Amino acid sequence: MAEVISPVVNASNENVLLELLNVESAYGPIKAIRGVSLKVRKGEIATVLGSNGAGKTTILKTISGIIDPRKGSITFNGKDITAKDPAFIVQQGLSHVPEGREVFPLLSVKDNLLMGAFTRSDKDGVAKDIEMVYDYFPILKERATQDAGLLSGGQQQMLSISRALMARPSLILLDEPSLGLSPKLTKEIFEIVVRINRDQGTTFLLVEQNANMALNASDYGYVLENGRIVMEDTCERLREKDDIKEFYLGMKEEGVRDERRWKKKKNWR
Ligand SMILES: Nc1ncnc2c1ncn2[C@@H]1O[C@H](COP(=O)(O)OP(=O)(O)O)[C@@H](O)[C@H]1O
Ligand SMILES: [Mg+2]
Repeated sequence: MAEVISPVVNASNENVLLELLNVESAYGPIKAIRGVSLKVRKGEIATVLGSNGAGKTTILKTISGIIDPRKGSITFNGKDITAKDPAFIVQQGLSHVPEGREVFPLLSVKDNLLMGAFTRSDKDGVAKDIEMVYDYFPILKERATQDAGLLSGGQQQMLSISRALMARPSLILLDEPSLGLSPKLTKEIFEIVVRINRDQGTTFLLVEQNANMALNASDYGYVLENGRIVMEDTCERLREKDDIKEFYLGMKEEGVRDERRWKKKKNWR
């Protein structure tokens, strides 16, 4: 992953764009997230790492207003957006790329992009932005007139991100872009997300099971287990943490193993 551009780390508390405070969401009796607090700063890529069922999708759905939280508050750009209507939240500049990259399968690629811009009245700006997303994802230009349903999974992911961009959001929520994609394609998509972040200043909150990819692309990270945030730090530091390496990155370096053995021995005495 050395080719991925090194992110600019902004760990200060200033310029908070999105803040969740003690957010709890449930499906009937099932509490999916419990007391989640997190911050996303302007201009950064933040990530929430967690295994299947940890509550990642629930966090994003709660932010974008698809699910109303039982407790807690969500502030975006200084405004309280807790339990507001999803359409209102989109208008504030927050776009959600859902899990499973939902595209309109019977609409052309270009019409899918135009759907992303339906709230905009600046025709010239929209035309410019279509060219901009074609620059990032040239395959979408090639397939512009084709039905979106005929695209591959990776291409649909690209279209889904591009459609979100067409609304000119200040924050994009990205739900597991790596799901079902090859490592090569995943890497390509993450590299473009980083480019969009650097070029356009778009802030991202990305949730992922693929900790390796997410930690390389992001600036700041949270680890979610059973609906709770159990750890947070800059991604640079998270990548160096032994338990992250072992449990999320699947790496068992000699050094780590030696140290654990030594610790065990120590415990036996
Ligand atoms: N529609 C639903 N009805 C009931 N339980 C749900 C529903 N969606 C998710 N859950 C449960 O909530 C928890 C968190 O799910 P989710 O947010 O989808 O996790 P993740 O995205 O990290 O895989 C899981 O235990 C899951 O089974
Ligand atoms: Mg999910």
